Amino acid sequence: MTNTIKKIPLRDMDVFISIIGNAYPGFGVASAQERGKMRQRLVAVSKDPTIAHYGVYRNRKLVGGMRTYDFDMNLFSRRTMVGGVGLVAVDLLHKKQKACRDLIMYFIQLYQKKGSSMVALYPFRPDFYRKMGFGYGTKLNLYRIRPEDLPSGGSREHLRFLVPGDRKAFKECSDRFWQKHHGMFKIKKHELDYFFKNPAAKTVVYENHKRILGYLSFVFKRADAENILKNHIVIRELVYENRDVLRGLLAFLRVQSDQIPRILFPTQDDMIHFLVKDPRDGSDNIIPVIGHQTNTQGVGVMYRVIDTRKIFRFLKKHRFGHQSYRMKLSIHDSFLTENDGSVVLKFDDGHASVMKGGGYDVEVILDVSDFSSLLVGSVDYRSLYRYGLTDISDQQYIETVTNTFKVEQKPICHTTF
Ligand SMILES: CC(C)(COP(=O)(O)OP(=O)(O)OC[C@H]1O[C@@H](n2cnc3c(N)ncnc32)[C@H](O)[C@@H]1OP(=O)(O)O)[C@@H](O)C(=O)NCCC(=O)NCCS
Repeated sequence: MTNTIKKIPLRDMDVFISIIGNAYPGFGVASAQERGKMRQRLVAVSKDPTIAHYGVYRNRKLVGGMRTYDFDMNLFSRRTMVGGVGLVAVDLLHKKQKACRDLIMYFIQLYQKKGSSMVALYPFRPDFYRKMGFGYGTKLNLYRIRPEDLPSGGSREHLRFLVPGDRKAFKECSDRFWQKHHGMFKIKKHELDYFFKNPAAKTVVYENHKRILGYLSFVFKRADAENILKNHIVIRELVYENRDVLRGLLAFLRVQSDQIPRILFPTQDDMIHFLVKDPRDGSDNIIPVIGHQTNTQGVGVMYRVIDTRKIFRFLKKHRFGHQSYRMKLSIHDSFLTENDGSVVLKFDDGHASVMKGGGYDVEVILDVSDFSSLLVGSVDYRSLYRYGLTDISDQQYIETVTNTFKVEQKPICHTTF
């Protein structure tokens, strides 16, 4: 029996909700009321022309689905459309019938047609999607900071709570941050709505001369089942355009120490232990022999190049280091076989051009998943070589190739999907 994929019509949304409910029991869509809310959300989000829901049908019956997003990504300071996929769910009765494989293939081909050369997702299991060619992005750290360990000295005079009239200035701040940070996706309407419409979200903004220069959005989380007065702060997003803004927002957090035991801060910034007085996360774990646990870490966003030639053409103005040489890049792509194969790249003082063929100085061989991580800068070439995840025709070029893909800042992504 074959799988057919098409956009999910409104009349099938209830079936999709049942599939989602079983695939993600943690989402809590059991009661009629919860289902109704989920339906409203699905319909509302579908109104955004950059977001769509696709279903996989067997025998005209919906057996799985996904949500796709056109994201506007900052890839090395260049805007590019990156396809995102989330809410992948397969009917429990129809697992292991390649429904997910076909959805992901459809998703990749959809974004190839839209002209993208990369896609992204948050995996339910990293290894499942690595097999399909997705590579790990920058890891996510969870810090658990005592407010009193944050630096003192920041000024709180520019801080206030977000108000409905801030929408334009808030978006402008978010957009400027996106423009300045490699990896960021431009904020979407429903994400903006979160800050303005979700009563649980508390957002403090830093304003100067009528411009919002940063914000801290958080929710409270019960710290103790017995004690209603003990709550942690969980940071949802921290954006700052300069260090005074950061200091100001941290000063706000610091003065919450009388009520808040810990600030839970999920961030891709792994230097936070330098910022705080006591970097330990309260677990008192000692990593043998002597390492004080400062944070826990996880693999989050994953990227996948879906057209190797095209991504280098797109990045023709980007500087891949400062070297001049020719590399034959051989990509193993067992999932998307049209992307499997070699391309000769000519680097001219770091500027890459895709050649029709011809001679080369070195051949580099790697899987598309690790290549995707290498390209965005979430792993360095030398480490891939050390782990045996790549082959190279001439070891003398290891440093050259490492420098070619070296980045100043690893990619960051504030969008969850
Ligand atoms: C995870 C989930 C989506 C899997 O769905 P599924 O339809 O059972 O998965 P599939 O049958 O398509 O399995 C993937 C197939 O792709 C194949 N595949 C993966 N990489 C491949 C590659 N490089 N080349 C060829 N085939 C490949 C796998 O081999 C597998 O087939 P197999 O089972 O015959 O080995 C489903 O279990 C689910 O809904 N889980 C709960 C919700 C969830 O966590 N969703 C994910 C959120 S991102």
